[in-house]
Amino acid sequence: MTDLARIRALLDQRRPGHALPQEFYTDPEIFAFDIDAIYGQSWTLVGFEAELPSPGCTLALTIGRSPVVVVRGRDNALRAFFNSCRHRGAQICADGLSKRPRLVCPYHQWAYDLQGKLVNATRMAPDFNPAEHNLRPVALRTIAGTIYLCLSDTPPAFDDFHDQFEPMLAPHQLHLGKVAFEATLVEKANWKLVMENARECYHCATNHPELSVTFPVGRRSLGMAEQQHVTETFEARMAEQGLPTGPVEGAWWQAGRFPLNEGTQSLTMDGRPCVARTIGHVGNGDVGSLRWALEPHSFAHALGDYVFMFSAMPTAPEETVVTAKWLVSADAVEGVDYTIPQLTELWDKTNLQDRVLAENNQRGVRSAGFIPGPYSPEAESLVLRFVDWYCGKAREYLAERRPASD
Ligand code: FES
Ligand SMILES: [Fe+2]
Repeated sequence: MTDLARIRALLDQRRPGHALPQEFYTDPEIFAFDIDAIYGQSWTLVGFEAELPSPGCTLALTIGRSPVVVVRGRDNALRAFFNSCRHRGAQICADGLSKRPRLVCPYHQWAYDLQGKLVNATRMAPDFNPAEHNLRPVALRTIAGTIYLCLSDTPPAFDDFHDQFEPMLAPHQLHLGKVAFEATLVEKANWKLVMENARECYHCATNHPELSVTFPVGRRSLGMAEQQHVTETFEARMAEQGLPTGPVEGAWWQAGRFPLNEGTQSLTMDGRPCVARTIGHVGNGDVGSLRWALEPHSFAHALGDYVFMFSAMPTAPEETVVTAKWLVSADAVEGVDYTIPQLTELWDKTNLQDRVLAENNQRGVRSAGFIPGPYSPEAESLVLRFVDWYCGKAREYLAERRPASD
C-alpha cells in the first residue's frame, strides 16, 4: 500500500521553480505512484492510424504496467482494450503490430472478436456467461491520423486538444503515410529525467551538434521564433499555404509550427529533405516543423517529408523505454525515395546523446549530496511547465484519495 501521506509531504518539500526532491527520481514507491497517478490518468500518444490500415490490424503496447491493444474493427473503427484475458489475465497479443481475425489468448484459447466480445471459451461451467467476460475497453481518441489512449475510466477532457490541434495537423494527411521505422531505447534513468531532458534545448548546442544544424536550439520557446521578422515572414508564408502555426496549448498538451534554421528544410543531418516525396498538403515541403507534445510522455514533429514521434514509458524507478517512430508517405519507396539510415540518422544520434545525458543525470541525482537546483526561466520554461504539471496532477490524484480523517 502506497504511503500517500509521505508523497504529499515530499511534494510539499519542492521549492517553486526547482527540480523535485530526490525521491521522485529514485524511489520505488513513487515510481508505483507515477504509474497509477500519472500514466494511468493521462492521455498518451501511441502511434498512427496508418499502422492499422485494415480490419483485424492490431497494435499492442504497454502503458505503465498495463498491456493494451488497439484494434481496427470490421466496421473500420478503432477500439482499444486492456490486453489482459478475462480468464486468468494472460496478455493476449504480444506487443507490436499484427493482423488477426479474432484475438485468441495463447494460454487456454479464449477468443474475442474485434469488438472485444468473448466468442469462444471451452469447458467452462454450465452457468458460465460469456457476456460477463468481454475485454475491458480503454478510452481511445484520434486526431488527424494520430492515436491517443487513456487507461482511466474518467479521462481528462480531450475535446479542446482535438479541436485546436486537428486543423493544424490535418493538412499533413498522416492517414496517407506508413511507419517506415520504429526504434526502442532503454535508458537507465527515471522517466521524469528523460522527459525533463526532452523538454529543453539548454543542453542542445553543446550536446547535439547534428541537431543544432537545423533545430533552432537557442530559441526561447519552441512554438515561436525569437526574432520577430523571422516569425512574421514564416507565418505569412504558412498562411498562404493554409497551414496554421499556433501556438496553442492546454494544461497537458501544446502544439506550434516553427521555422527551422535558415536555409534548412527538414530535421536531417544536412537540413535537406531525406524523403523524396512529401507527405500531405505541404507544397514543396518547406513548412518548418509542427511540433506537438503531451504530458507526461511524448513529443512529435510533422515535417514536409516525414513525421517523427517520441514516447517515454517508465519500466522501473531508474529505467525508461523510449520508442521512436518515423512516418513517411505511403507512396515513398525504400531504397528509391528514402533509405532507413538517412531517415533515422539524426534522431538516432540525438536519442543516443540524450540517453547519455539522462543516465548521467540519474547518477548525479542519486548522490547523497544532491540538492534540487533551480531551472532557467528562459531556457527551461518547458521543463518547469512539465514539473509543475506533474506536481499538480499528483496533488489532484492525492486529493481524490484523501482519507476522511486527514
Ligand atoms: S488466461 Fe486467457 S484463456 Fe486462460
Ligand atoms: Fe536532447
